[in-house]
Amino acid sequence: MNIPNRSIPKQTQLFYGADYNPDQWQHAPEILERDIELMKQAGVTSASIGIFAWTALEPEEGRYTFEWLDRVMDRFAQEGMFVFLATPSGSKPMWLSEKYPEVRRVNQDGIRDRSGGRHNHCMSSQVYRAKTAQMNRALAERYQNHPALALWHVGNEFSGECHCQLCRTGFQEWLKAKYQTLEALNEAWWSNFWNHTFTDWSQVPTFDESIDGLSLDWLRFTNDQHVSFFRNEMVPLRELTPHVPCTTNFMGTHEGTNYWQWSEHLDVISNDLYPMPDDREHTWQQSIASDFIHSLMRGMSGGKPWMLLECSPSSVNWGQINKLKRPGVHRQEVLQAVANGADTIHYFQWRKGRGGFEKYHGAVVDHEGSDRGRVYQECAAVGSELASLESLCQQDLPKSDVAIVYDWESRWALNASCGPKKAEAVHPYPSDIYTEACQAHYRALTVAGQSVDVLSAQSEFTDYKVLVIPALYMVSDALGARLQAFVDRGGILVGSYLTGYVDEMNCCHLGGFPGAGLRDTFGIWNEEVDYLHDEIEVLIAAESGEAYPDAAKDIVEVLHADSAEVLARTASEFYSGSPIVTRKQSGAGAAYYVGAKLGDGGLNAFYRQLLSAHDLHSNLQMIMPEGVVLRQRESAQGRLTFLFNYKREAQSIELLDQSLRDLATGDLLSGHVELQPYASHVCVAEEGSNIAV
Ligand code: GLA
Ligand code: GLA
Repeated sequence: MNIPNRSIPKQTQLFYGADYNPDQWQHAPEILERDIELMKQAGVTSASIGIFAWTALEPEEGRYTFEWLDRVMDRFAQEGMFVFLATPSGSKPMWLSEKYPEVRRVNQDGIRDRSGGRHNHCMSSQVYRAKTAQMNRALAERYQNHPALALWHVGNEFSGECHCQLCRTGFQEWLKAKYQTLEALNEAWWSNFWNHTFTDWSQVPTFDESIDGLSLDWLRFTNDQHVSFFRNEMVPLRELTPHVPCTTNFMGTHEGTNYWQWSEHLDVISNDLYPMPDDREHTWQQSIASDFIHSLMRGMSGGKPWMLLECSPSSVNWGQINKLKRPGVHRQEVLQAVANGADTIHYFQWRKGRGGFEKYHGAVVDHEGSDRGRVYQECAAVGSELASLESLCQQDLPKSDVAIVYDWESRWALNASCGPKKAEAVHPYPSDIYTEACQAHYRALTVAGQSVDVLSAQSEFTDYKVLVIPALYMVSDALGARLQAFVDRGGILVGSYLTGYVDEMNCCHLGGFPGAGLRDTFGIWNEEVDYLHDEIEVLIAAESGEAYPDAAKDIVEVLHADSAEVLARTASEFYSGSPIVTRKQSGAGAAYYVGAKLGDGGLNAFYRQLLSAHDLHSNLQMIMPEGVVLRQRESAQGRLTFLFNYKREAQSIELLDQSLRDLATGDLLSGHVELQPYASHVCVAEEGSNIAV
């Protein structure tokens, strides 16, 4: 997946920088010169430029004013710094938007947007496609041989949907290509329900919540339209600058974008991540949620380094509570991304603007403007630390024994289905029950000391020892057969509640859940599912009779163990005694099923037992409390170990017979080690120590 097929020079250094908006400061050349000085002083290597600068580049149709950008590009080149040059499609010029109304999106009520805002162009508009292609060609022609040009930053955070007639017709054409006949469409969408049979393609709307197959296909179509728009933007870039890689910034687990599909078209994966600054008791769990998203990026880049293209060095301005990051957190977030494979760290934003929606968003340089501020000083320290980690650059990332499947299609299908309980959104993490399930399993495995790879449902997973498919709601017959084959070959499969309910069309499997052959794989029948009020818990007891560390919440399935062994049962409610954790051993392989949303204690206990039953131990000899996480990465100088305490309290670890040398402080860590709140250590193993096998 995502193997670049063009000859692109390898990144030779860790990139460190920010989104930079010189277009907003053209009236103040002294600020621009000061920026260069401050960047150099902070160890900045690169900046993303021109993301929202279309009007500054083309103030009226066909009249280009690239001179200011020439100067910026030249200054960067003179200083040996690089530019990630953006194509400015993320926000439309007013003149363009007013002259060609079709470029503006239309909402579900048929109302066209006014000009303004951003990230709101119609992806189907041929006018906008032509205009962006022209602009991109002009940029590529002008800068194709410029020494500062290192990367194309194509558009910005593509997302959202448009219900205009162009998109509606496009959707109908997309459906025709997919289904060929209306009979096939009606069958796939179960259209006899509520008399929704379509008798002409033109009748098909862009939304109707009561047709869940339509909702699912609409999300697929919208995602395809974005990808096709993005690819159209790249045509002139690929043609004129085949040596310059292209990327676009992802948004982690953003709901509307199936990034597995996008990743095939990028030369390098890049992501934006804004953990909400927080320091309450549960904050460490959010750090593991960030770790999950980093692993997702690692999965998309096929084990190659990726870019953290946006994060905040301090607060954001769009949360309800915009707290400052506590000491150590900013450095920890940067090193966490690096530990998980980022070879680039860029902030949003370099300098706070004087006006506009983001004037209070965290930045490296504050309105005060000097290098005296705390945030600037921290960024400069991070800059010099990253420079010292150069040997990590472009090294392949380690593969884990354990993988989790993250599948947008299952998420879409589940969210389009009326019935399952909804989860509360916690920005930027789980916004639904599907993502929440994946995060919970990832967290429990992390607490058990495992590194976990994240895969798509289409990925090759035969090399893994353990494959976890939390709430994999949509399972086709082909996928069901691949999962069975994985177990037959000796793999350990873990399924959870809400697995295997529907096929690719969001139609329920017949013959009992989990469908697509998984009843046999897991040896169970999931007869019913109980969705619980927030304050209700269902007790769980191990088969031995011992109580589980904590109870189940939200979702409890009523299972029958047909050919599976029961490991735990429900111990309250009218279905008390029904199997809830099961295992079906098949030769060397096994399929586990966890039929309820267990609390962290229960899930931790489940994975501890599973890993020990199959002799899968973390290869590190140490005792780590919850919230302490260790990651490793190869460097040209050998393996580096990253040790993090994600908790706001100090925590103790036992390094047993290993010794680690902290690269930043030179301190030796061995035996009993006290980790400070939000501590991060980047270490090498001392000679003779058996840190990693
Ligand atoms: C997104 C955008 C940026 C900026 C930041 C603010 O990531 O890409 O332009 O608005 O959010 O957090
Ligand atoms: C109403 C309708 C039915 C069905 C039920 C579902 O009673 O008449 O068609 O939708 O609600 O609860």
